[in-house]
Amino acid sequence: MKSTKWTARIGICAALIATPALADDATVTIGLILPMTGPSASTGKQERAAAELYIQQHGDAVAGKKISLIVKDDTGAADVTKRLAEELVGNDHAKILMGFGLTPLALAAAPVATAAKIPEIVSAAGTAMITEKSPYIVRTSFTLPQSAAPMAEWCLKNGIKKVVTLVTDYGPGIDAEKWFSQTFTKGGGVIAQQIRVPLKNPDFAPFLQRAKDDAPDAVFVFVPSGFGAVFMKEFVEQGLDKSGIKLIGTGDVTDDDLLPQMGDAALGVVTAHNYSAAHDSPENKAFVAAFEKANGGMRPNFMAVGAYDGMALIYQALEKTKGATDGDALIAAMKGANWTSPRGPISIDPETRDIVQTIYVRKVEKVDGQLYNVEFGSIPAVKDPYKASKP
Ligand code: DHB
Repeated sequence: MKSTKWTARIGICAALIATPALADDATVTIGLILPMTGPSASTGKQERAAAELYIQQHGDAVAGKKISLIVKDDTGAADVTKRLAEELVGNDHAKILMGFGLTPLALAAAPVATAAKIPEIVSAAGTAMITEKSPYIVRTSFTLPQSAAPMAEWCLKNGIKKVVTLVTDYGPGIDAEKWFSQTFTKGGGVIAQQIRVPLKNPDFAPFLQRAKDDAPDAVFVFVPSGFGAVFMKEFVEQGLDKSGIKLIGTGDVTDDDLLPQMGDAALGVVTAHNYSAAHDSPENKAFVAAFEKANGGMRPNFMAVGAYDGMALIYQALEKTKGATDGDALIAAMKGANWTSPRGPISIDPETRDIVQTIYVRKVEKVDGQLYNVEFGSIPAVKDPYKASKP
């Protein structure tokens, strides 16, 4: 008798564990998949903090629906991203997926979003072609061509004639290399060498030596968010800072998360990018103050803004659909959306579902004793040049 009771109890427990959460029409579940551990953990930390701040500031109810955010750590591994996306859709009834700290992670979730017909908001990754991988992908981060091409234009106007490119060897790095080099050579510049460094455990020293040997006017660099401090340390150790070779790049290398600890070697680095914590606008001042207050003084970087705007886009879309969560209706509502972000005016291109934004040219300077990317030039309404170049 006793053993039967126990068997029955175990049976009930197993059933409770196996039963998926019941779909609840009053709640909109957003599955936020991020690398919370591993080499890209800073992206996870920044994105999560910004998404939570958005909800704290705007409330957890929109158009009569309650917003529930579920954060999952994919550790930066694409197979984990895919499994988590499937679980969020199948077990948690997520109506929207967001995050994706690296390009391969955004790509891994694309077939899941397509099959489930739900929006995949890419709020961190930057390879141009990502948005072409599912009609349900909408991007609030950036594309690498968006900042690499303007960086080349700036070089052409500022006496830089010979450049070595040094990029991390995967999607966004190859995009940055291609769009910088193509724009620069078209305007008469010379690319002395194109160097690609592995994503996993990069040792920049031998590559920087090779770059130095060419004696270029500048080294153009792309490394993903979280890798800039190691790169800068090696740049100094290999003596490039004293060699008269200028360091330029997309703004990923002088990421606001790491910049405060980079030291004076970073002074004068010129980059092109979509966001600086020093951006001078009332929206950004309020955002930075609230973010720092909520996160023990941590400075928001461009990943944080991608997630903050991802949430803004979701809230706007739900307002437009009056709370309806049908994926096609949400995507239709997101196309053409526009608002003032902490980074400046942004919109979602209705043709490509990609972000259109101002790209700023910035220089690292000290402001009140702290290193910041200080903006000194801007190009408004930049569309992704890769998609804009297609017939
Ligand atoms: C990607 C990741 C980054 O951290 C970054 O700064 C730019 C692009 C990416 O994998 O797409």
